[in-house]
Amino acid sequence: MGAAVDLSTTYLGLPLRSPLVASASPLNGDPETARMVEEGGAAAIVLPSLFEEEILHEELQLNQALEAGSGHFAEALDYFPAVPELAGAGERYVRALERIKAQASVPVIASLNATTRGGWVRWAKALQDAGADAVELNLYHVAADPDLTGAAMEARDLDLVAAVRAAISVPLAVKLSPYYSAFANVAREVVRAGADGLVLFNRFYQPDLDLENLGVVVRLDLSQPWELRLPMRWTAILRPQLGPAVSLAATSGIRAAVDVVKALMVGADVAMMTSAALREGPAHFAAVEADLRLWMVRHGYASVDQLRGCATQDHAEDPSAFERANYMQTLHSWSAPPGLVAPGS
Ligand SMILES: Cc1cc2nc3c(=O)[nH]c(=O)nc-3n(C[C@H](O)[C@H](O)[C@H](O)COP(=O)(O)O)c2cc1C
Repeated sequence: MGAAVDLSTTYLGLPLRSPLVASASPLNGDPETARMVEEGGAAAIVLPSLFEEEILHEELQLNQALEAGSGHFAEALDYFPAVPELAGAGERYVRALERIKAQASVPVIASLNATTRGGWVRWAKALQDAGADAVELNLYHVAADPDLTGAAMEARDLDLVAAVRAAISVPLAVKLSPYYSAFANVAREVVRAGADGLVLFNRFYQPDLDLENLGVVVRLDLSQPWELRLPMRWTAILRPQLGPAVSLAATSGIRAAVDVVKALMVGADVAMMTSAALREGPAHFAAVEADLRLWMVRHGYASVDQLRGCATQDHAEDPSAFERANYMQTLHSWSAPPGLVAPGS
């Protein structure tokens, strides 16, 4: 039996048994493996994203098929594929979501990946209708267009958040990139545009080069624990700015109970895991939960509520440690390995 600590938390208004959430990953998109993730101890499940590209591709195919038929006699329409056959990724996603929702006893969050506003946003409503307890809007783009300013890109993102917000009544989380030039402002504006919570951060996958055939290689490396530091810093900064009503989820580098403790202490409501669950298997959630209970008992914490937010920026002895001041100290803290002596010393 677990140690007597109260792990319950609330995320996007949803009461959760514990703060351990399975972030968007292929494990959670299939009803069989999603069941294993829930049985493995996840307190909520985020499905992998339904991608804007997939939906647009599907709609394009459908339009082409319908247009191709428009110049022909009615009987010729028999030659065209039936709409259900063309209903690909979106429909498949909705069906998987319905099945996962029907079997799950934990909240199920659907994820929509987007780069632009468009008619496809109506899919957010389809996810809600299929039973999603909340929708996570995953914003992922690389701002490589030199004519696109930061302000224009942010305006586009906010417009998109507002469009998805308008399409649904269930809670909305927005998974953000850390690569905005003024992140605190973007975070606040995303909340003003209608987000109930922020997921920090989207993890950017960097392509590599194959030097033998000069090809670009798609690389998906699972995360390392040090990657938690970026979401930690920003959660610590944003929690006092956004207030307790806005949900914050930490994602990237969370592997062990101590990582969960850090995420909660800086003000996260939940700690999400994907890489650790892919490495260790779905039962990793239960293992981390057991360690979390032990850690809390040993350190005298009775509940997640008590732990949450005790190390946010406004509680820090030196608030600037989360900001720039810490840059110089960090650089100066490096000490040369034996044998490597700076010139002139
Ligand atoms: C194989 C794989 C697939 C993923 N698919 C998605 C996805 O569809 N949508 C999304 O928002 N994030 C996706 N992610 C990102 C994770 O949800 C998570 O935010 C990221 O891996 C950082 O957390 P971690 O350090 O616990 O892995 C994926 C990650 C992995 C490793």
